[in-house]
Amino acid sequence: MTQNSTADTATQRIALVTGANKGIGREIVRRLAALGMTVLLAARDERRGADAAAELRAEGGDVIPLVLDVTDAATVSAAAKAVEERFGRLDVLVNNAGIAGPRSRQAVDAANVDVVREVFETNVFGVLTVTGTFLPLLLRSPAPRVVNMSSGVGSLAAMSDPDDQFAGLPPSVAYVPSKTALNALTVQTARALRGRVLVNAADPGYCATDLNGHSGYRSAAQGAEIAVRLATLADDGPTGGFFDDEGAVAW
Ligand SMILES: NC(=O)c1ccc[n+]([C@@H]2O[C@H](COP(=O)([O-])OP(=O)(O)OC[C@H]3O[C@@H](n4cnc5c(N)ncnc54)[C@H](OP(=O)(O)O)[C@@H]3O)[C@@H](O)[C@H]2O)c1
Repeated sequence: MTQNSTADTATQRIALVTGANKGIGREIVRRLAALGMTVLLAARDERRGADAAAELRAEGGDVIPLVLDVTDAATVSAAAKAVEERFGRLDVLVNNAGIAGPRSRQAVDAANVDVVREVFETNVFGVLTVTGTFLPLLLRSPAPRVVNMSSGVGSLAAMSDPDDQFAGLPPSVAYVPSKTALNALTVQTARALRGRVLVNAADPGYCATDLNGHSGYRSAAQGAEIAVRLATLADDGPTGGFFDDEGAVAW
């Protein structure tokens, strides 16, 4: 954390978004900063994170870059230590970092277990590591919120519906199951933290980003909306749910 925040740390809401140097994550940072939060823009690559944070600071946001690779526990611990020293707590955690993995190696008849492991390392175990490491800081917040960036493709209800909008996509044994596992992790985390932290999964819809070669029909900014909503829930808001812009998504 190299740049100075202008925030009064006692009253300011402090948010952290992983995988935030581009795509939906960067838009979540932009929106949370526009709401007046101090936002830690976490990126695995220091330069990419610094560049993105500089761009958002130029727009007036209180945005601070933070190096954090969700698959590298040492960087996650170092990031948490830096946040503790600087702010003493964390109010909002958005687990946004994710990878799709190479599609050609996710077909059932050509499955490469190393590819599946790699995708799970980021999309599932990474979330477990980051949430667990930041939990002590979240529990010091008066109103902590955790948002896990899932996907509608991870819905068991949707994937088993032959009329679903994604029914034409080739079956995947890596990305799709990773988001289903993330949904289960979200529910279990919410159960464990009930009454203390609101924990929900977000479905951003199909957004044009690097993840899908910009084939999505929604913008990254549109995809960010549901995460922002879940990051700013009132105290009586839901926990352990899965939501898109329209409301609850079937598991
Ligand atoms: N786009 C969609 O249609 C869509 C739909 C449903 C869900 N989602 C989910 O939304 C989230 C954001 O996706 P996106 O579409 O914005 O994709 P994106 O543009 O490819 O951005 C992904 C971000 O995650 C970062 N990342 C990847 N591995 C990481 C790691 N080990 N540690 C830290 N950061 C890491 C990337 O960093 P680098 O720049 O360093 O690679 C990048 O900042 C993902 O969880 C994705 O699964 C997207």
